[in-house]
Amino acid sequence: MANAIPDISLNDGNTIPQLGFGVFQIDPKDTVAAVRKALEVGYRHIDTAEMYGNEAEVGRAIRESGLDRDEVFVTSKLNNGFHRPDDARKAFESTLAALKMDYIDLFLIHWPLPTLYDGDFVSTWKALEEFQHDGRARSIGVSNFQVAHLERLAAESEVAPAVNQVEVHPYFGNEEVRAYGRAHNILTEAWSPIAQGKVLDDPTVVDVAEQVGRTPAQVVLRWHVQRGDIVFPKSTTPQRIEENLRIFDFELDDTAMERITGLDRGEAGRQGPNPDTFDYVPA
Ligand SMILES: NC(=O)c1ccc[n+]([C@@H]2O[C@H](COP(=O)([O-])OP(=O)(O)OC[C@H]3O[C@@H](n4cnc5c(N)ncnc54)[C@H](OP(=O)(O)O)[C@@H]3O)[C@@H](O)[C@H]2O)c1
Repeated sequence: MANAIPDISLNDGNTIPQLGFGVFQIDPKDTVAAVRKALEVGYRHIDTAEMYGNEAEVGRAIRESGLDRDEVFVTSKLNNGFHRPDDARKAFESTLAALKMDYIDLFLIHWPLPTLYDGDFVSTWKALEEFQHDGRARSIGVSNFQVAHLERLAAESEVAPAVNQVEVHPYFGNEEVRAYGRAHNILTEAWSPIAQGKVLDDPTVVDVAEQVGRTPAQVVLRWHVQRGDIVFPKSTTPQRIEENLRIFDFELDDTAMERITGLDRGEAGRQGPNPDTFDYVPA
């Protein structure tokens, strides 16, 4: 079986590679090398954010790779201080300028921040609709939106998000949010797909890995893609960057899938902040 990364269809007609490379917590000085390595071994989808402080380095790595702009799917996200529409417009221009790109493949609202901005993320979303309308964002979506936030967007805006990027890994299945996405044609992107490494020594994960002759990280990433979610594991370790890509030449059977799904700890398994209360605005 060849190890080709599938493209999957978004609700706006565009496609996205199901596996990408995440650059959260990669120091800007290490980002060019990490992204260059990822592109060399075959990743064609990079997930960054204004908040990560490395958009410029992501853009540089893509330019230096020799690949054409349209061969790489690039995602970035609106930072939390810029939800007012005028600020969002300026921030979006800054993102394109940092990347040195004239369009982005996917632009997301990073967090809903329901306790800030008088609870208004709808006017922010309408600014993203403008970016898609003028062609500078091919697709638009959200991140860390709970079901109530998605319901509100559906009631008060025209365009459905193409994706919702949320925390998902074996210890936190986030099933209610994923089910809403499935029912409304919003793809789920699973962030921290290996829980920043915390699920890799779980006895069940280790056991399944031994049974199929793969590493724990490969087994967990394979579990995500068989559930239909999009993933972009982060690593600055060259051997792991390659390892995480080699997940399309084997399959987990139903028993292995169910065993990993059964590790869900509900809310207790959440590693990151709860989107209902998260209100961090970088200085
Ligand atoms: N929208 C949001 O709010 C949000 C929040 C968090 C993350 N994200 C996105 O999701 C991406 C991935 O999440 P994440 O960076 O939090 O965590 P992650 O991908 O679940 O885990 C990354 C950690 O696991 C280690 N690792 C990677 N591959 C490994 C392997 N094969 N074996 C053993 N250890 C391995 C890495 O170490 P080394 O680097 O040392 O190899 C790093 O410490 C981010 O980069 C970002 O793009 C989005």
